[in-house]
Amino acid sequence: MTTDTDDRRRAAAEGTSSGVLPPVRPWPASRPPGVDFDPDLAELMREGPVSRVGRPDGEGWAWLVTRYDDVRTVTNDPRFGREPVMDGRPARLAPHVVPQRDAVTFPDSSEPARPRRSVAAAFTARGVERVREATRRMLDELVDELLQDGPPADLIAAVLGPFPGAVICELMGVPAADRHEVHTWSRLILSPGHGTKAGERARDEMNAYFTGLIGAREGGTGEDVVSLLGAAVGLGEAALDEAAGLAVLLQIGAEAVTGHTGRMFHLLLTRPDLTERLRAEPAIRPQAVDELLRYIPHRNAVGPPRVATQDVEVGGVRIRAGEAVYVSYAAANRDPGVFPDPETIDFARYPNPHVAFGSGPQRCPGGMPARLASEMLLDALLDRVPGLRLAVPPDEVPFREGALTRGPDALPVTW
Ligand code: HEM
Repeated sequence: MTTDTDDRRRAAAEGTSSGVLPPVRPWPASRPPGVDFDPDLAELMREGPVSRVGRPDGEGWAWLVTRYDDVRTVTNDPRFGREPVMDGRPARLAPHVVPQRDAVTFPDSSEPARPRRSVAAAFTARGVERVREATRRMLDELVDELLQDGPPADLIAAVLGPFPGAVICELMGVPAADRHEVHTWSRLILSPGHGTKAGERARDEMNAYFTGLIGAREGGTGEDVVSLLGAAVGLGEAALDEAAGLAVLLQIGAEAVTGHTGRMFHLLLTRPDLTERLRAEPAIRPQAVDELLRYIPHRNAVGPPRVATQDVEVGGVRIRAGEAVYVSYAAANRDPGVFPDPETIDFARYPNPHVAFGSGPQRCPGGMPARLASEMLLDALLDRVPGLRLAVPPDEVPFREGALTRGPDALPVTW
């Protein structure tokens, strides 16, 4: 990371038109309520496409890229890598789970890591269709119970918590008897409130669990993710430990869907105009899911940075080899050059090339299961619970503190 003295030397040597590099801004400074856009991030976007932000540990600064095209450049250009991030350098702007090395695409590469390629088929639109019917039955049961128990209810505890986990377990091929334990591990890994030690222990236990399951399906021919990983291990295309590391990451991805659908229903239940439209026009729901993915910020702050492996110019700024660059997908999704009138939720928006799932070789593999779960939840809750509404004022909904992704802890509803 770079210090003030380095800055001055560098600005003088480069002779930039203004003679100075952009000022270093403190960020993130605020935790906006609900699904609001971070006002400090909006301010940085107004200042320019490429900002400098102070590191949370006070040691120097890093670049922050907010414009859509620049975000795509940084995330797709192999001159930006994530290798140094694996060793804890540079510090992250928000809490993150450190995945097992080689499970994902951290090594510098323009290709997804090996185990990710082996399971790609399961995460296509066609791949996730395989689990639609089985998971619809599970969702029907959850909504039956919600209706039987009667209002009021916590929508997270009753439906939005368990359902995404069930979808991913079905996709993974996790046996029904193990699902409760798998869900508990996921929550321990991702909820900072339980402490780092508990999170690490849960990750190790879950890792051991998937190592056993994948090993038992080695050479298998099933279409579920664990079988695909078992086949890849059998063929020598992936090592057992990297396959298990990926399985853990994929399974805990279900929690991101709980967070997202929690934010989605929080927003919809405070915007009756949008909810009524979705009730009246079920055909627009798939497009609406994508527009809400674009509009609703997914993370607190940003994900782990990339590091330039050589000097690269981005957005008119020279980024030097070794410097860290954060990208904000939330900011890119509000770029008026790509999304006209970006502050408006427009279910008819077309095209809608949002980057809610990231971009480049490290983009999220969970886009299709996340869309499937979100659409099914809209169908079930809007059609089967017609009077669904918040049971408390919107600003009294408790949002998670200090977690990687944003989302309500509980969503009190009535009908
Ligand atoms: C609405 C729900 C979700 C959102 C908004 C979301 C968003 C993201 C984003 C922005 C990234 C980072 C991309 C980057 O670093 O450039 C990511 C990474 C990842 N996501 Fe998701 N995600 C969601 C659901 C899921 C699900 C359901 C799964 C699993 C099935 C999943 C698994 C992963 C994995 C494994 C990575 C790391 C990829 C890598 O570095 O190779 N996510 N996600």
